Amino acid sequence: MTVLKRMSSGCLVLLLCSQVCAAISVVPQPAELELMDENGMFKFTPETVIVARGEAEGEAKKLVRVLAPAMGFELKTAKTPGKGSVVLLELDAALEESLGKEGYRLRAGPELISISAAQRAGLFYGIQTLRQLLPPAIYGSRKAEGEDWSVPCLKITDYPRFGWRGLLIDPARHFIPVKDFKHYVDAMAVHKLNRLQIHLTDNEGWRIEIKRYPKLTTVGSKSDRSGRGPGHGGFYSQSDMRDIVRYALDRHITIIPEIEMPAHTGAASYAYPEELALKPKRNGHVLAPRPAAVTFMQNVLTEIMDIFPSRHIHIGGDEANTGVWKSNEEMQEQMRRMGHANVHELHSWFIRQMDTFLTEKGRRLVGWDEILQGGLASGATVMSWRGTSGGIAAAKAGHDVVMAPTSHTYFDYRQAPKELGLGRSVIDVQKVYAFEPIPADLNADEARHVLGGQGQLWGELIKDRERREFMTYPRACALAEVLWSPKDARDFNGFLPRLNVNLKRLRASNVNYRRLDDLLIVGTRDSEVEEFDYFENN
Ligand code: ACM
Repeated sequence: MTVLKRMSSGCLVLLLCSQVCAAISVVPQPAELELMDENGMFKFTPETVIVARGEAEGEAKKLVRVLAPAMGFELKTAKTPGKGSVVLLELDAALEESLGKEGYRLRAGPELISISAAQRAGLFYGIQTLRQLLPPAIYGSRKAEGEDWSVPCLKITDYPRFGWRGLLIDPARHFIPVKDFKHYVDAMAVHKLNRLQIHLTDNEGWRIEIKRYPKLTTVGSKSDRSGRGPGHGGFYSQSDMRDIVRYALDRHITIIPEIEMPAHTGAASYAYPEELALKPKRNGHVLAPRPAAVTFMQNVLTEIMDIFPSRHIHIGGDEANTGVWKSNEEMQEQMRRMGHANVHELHSWFIRQMDTFLTEKGRRLVGWDEILQGGLASGATVMSWRGTSGGIAAAKAGHDVVMAPTSHTYFDYRQAPKELGLGRSVIDVQKVYAFEPIPADLNADEARHVLGGQGQLWGELIKDRERREFMTYPRACALAEVLWSPKDARDFNGFLPRLNVNLKRLRASNVNYRRLDDLLIVGTRDSEVEEFDYFENN
């Protein structure tokens, strides 16, 4: 058995070692991992004590909680060591300089494991790695008999390459129950992913309670594509969503709300045609960007900012068929009045109203790369989905960028030619592993604007938890490694055996995934995914 040892100099050394190395299958691959020569292993027993003080105690409690079900005993926490072996969790602000806000150092000897970090997030990620040093059965929810809860002696120093390690899910197309959300968040945390964008609104349904505009949910949530017909659907009350936000934050995941505008607004326009719909001929997909619509959406964002503490608020901005504004008298008159030369300028003006509003409140607008058209709002972050060119242009202009290209990160696309998925492209785990978020066209200064990357699970064909997870894993394991591990550690052949162990962890956690050798033909039904028109369907 061999293991890769990453030296601080950056070179990789192959070490021959005993079968204990088989246990070292951390995903994503740590920045530096060195196996120690010491004899023996650290063994968890009911006498093992977790020692933590101050804020580290919160992370210690989480460690106790995740180990107890499978071990069948609950470890004690203490402020000082006792007789048994010790897991020490320490916060040390001075480590921020070398490890950043999310990095950690883990040392495992026969009697002591220590995890140190500058911030709680780092301790949390150290704990995720520690779990992965144990047998995959540690992820189970029931006592696992006959397992050896031992950890090899080693040193790990680890920190992420990117700060934005995201996934997007889409309850607008198919509603996602709160408990499924939490299950999804748990699996993300295992992979050190830290941003979850929720596509809360679209033509198919408005899924978040807005107290000022109750019809958004009493009317706008009452349809979905589940095949059960109008009257179904669903929405999150503000209290449901606060619960999800808290649950995610507890796992160091920031929820990014996405409220789509000016397109993909069919459900909202149906509920509030006076303010939002184009007149006299309604168009279900694009709102009329009149001043009343600006006020409406800003009022919505006020409640959204109250629910979601995230710095970034996503306003969509993609796929607006602005052509319909050309043939609309009210919009033409407004453009003349405001001096807009074309509909791109009108689109850009509308987005800028949101940018100024969010910026004044201390937040940052993020939008799909169409927000570049007609002039980019000054403080905006661009999410580059139509390839990376939008992201490149934005980074060169000094804007922050999240890379989310259809070429590598659309997890609603199929994983093999004959499987169910949107479009015709195949994005398998190897393709995702080859994703490079920093294009060669960017120099070092420009590259600093690339915050990271994100995988998209648009929900048109994703009707339940099993499929959502099947489409997410193992591709999200590959994405996690792209976004966390050093670029020069990337090695697909080295990743595969670790991935195989990781899939056992997913199985133990009751998370579905696509098996690597699975040639199952699920059948394609692309016809299911035509644009949904709220006005025609209600
Ligand atoms: C998108 O896929 N329309 C962002």
